[in-house]
Amino acid sequence: MEKFVVHGPCHLKGEVTISGAKNAAVAILPATLLVKGKCHLENVPNISDIRAYCKILESLGSKIEYVSDNELIIDNSEVSSAIASYELTSKFRASYYLLGSLLGRFDKVQIGLPGGCKLGARPIDQHIKAFKKLGAKIIVRNGNVYASKTEQLKGTNIFFDVVSVGSTMNAILAATLADGITTLENVAKEPHIVDLANFLNSMGANIKGAGTDIIKITGVKELHQKSSYSIIPDQIEAGTFMAAAAATQGDVLVKNCIPKHMEPITAKLIEAGCEVEEFESSIRVKMDKRPTSFNIKTLPYPGFPTDMQPQMSILLTLGEGTGTILETIWESRFQYTDELNKMGANITAHGSTAVFTGVEKIYGAPVIAHDLRAGAAMIIAGLCAEGQTEITEIHHILRGYENIIGKFESLGAKIEYIKTEDDE
Ligand code: EPZ
Repeated sequence: MEKFVVHGPCHLKGEVTISGAKNAAVAILPATLLVKGKCHLENVPNISDIRAYCKILESLGSKIEYVSDNELIIDNSEVSSAIASYELTSKFRASYYLLGSLLGRFDKVQIGLPGGCKLGARPIDQHIKAFKKLGAKIIVRNGNVYASKTEQLKGTNIFFDVVSVGSTMNAILAATLADGITTLENVAKEPHIVDLANFLNSMGANIKGAGTDIIKITGVKELHQKSSYSIIPDQIEAGTFMAAAAATQGDVLVKNCIPKHMEPITAKLIEAGCEVEEFESSIRVKMDKRPTSFNIKTLPYPGFPTDMQPQMSILLTLGEGTGTILETIWESRFQYTDELNKMGANITAHGSTAVFTGVEKIYGAPVIAHDLRAGAAMIIAGLCAEGQTEITEIHHILRGYENIIGKFESLGAKIEYIKTEDDE
């Protein structure tokens, strides 16, 4: 068994550099399949989801040169298979982007259903709707999605029923090489969607409007290979360190982030009483008192990101007064509140709302990282708590945060990584 043991309390101090965005990288890696040539990617986060993606690409015939921990050259000139097994795809969510990208290149695609954090129901009906509207035939059976086309996909108008990051990305991928113009409405506007569009445009795609409510894709015959593309910094990793700085009453300069992307988080930290200073590509968060409680409602970008609510909840746990989180994206994202209550928090979660009655102190306890962001929240809680916090199920955390222990330790945290022999 692997676990983290966090020794608290501490005040985080210093500088931390943010890695490339996981949720951009997991779309850009499969997007390279649209090019029959090489793509050179920089600022790729060195996390287990990316390593899993590389394994899938290699199983399809991609040749990957690992130039450094954060730099890859992917050569897709000889990709010959459009079949990815359930065993590989079920390890994480973003494997569903193989559908959009492989459908652009092959007539028949078979992809195992995706896995990922258990946050409630995670349907893919909007992805399927988009592929069907573009002219593909889709069958879901035996844990696989079978997609096929008899002629090139055809540009069309697609109005999504819900604002969905994954379906917006997948529709962009499938429409890039389609015949004619595709218009996507009621789309997601997250920074990683803009990054995917920028990446594809840099190889000759014609995608306009990413980051707004309507995206227009004029299909092109082919994409050309890319000399190099640098993935944007991770909004959620940056937010995690900002929340950690605030919760531990520390003083941290978060480097290599895009302050504009951080606005919904910055606004809440200011409400909590933090000093936040923005620079061109960094943000300093300073806090020297107990936070004032506040309310959060999660929303698609530019609203408050659902992927930041567990980390921000530590400020509410220790806040003065009562605060609430209303979760509107995922139906089951409050499992972590039981873990915080084990540490002495006073949280009542029911349905989509959690009410936090602030306490002055929390105390180390054995806790579980139920998912990626909940795991990050457990680390922050451990850093604020008196005594020792043992976090298990840390494979969730390692899926999405590069060198998380090293980064926290460089800010003065004391965290041990323990792997026990008997479970090897
Ligand atoms: C992405 O998931 C992220 N994952 C998630 O981050 C993030 O929580 C989520 O977007 C929301 O921001 C990746 O980018 C790999 P959605 P995704 O499609 O694309 C409903 C993390 O910690 N929906 O935007 O799967 C769905 O049920 C992870 O990094 C449908 O109804 O999310 C949800 O309520 C966790 N039908 C809402 O839309 C569909 O076909 C938003 O989901 C698709 C989604």
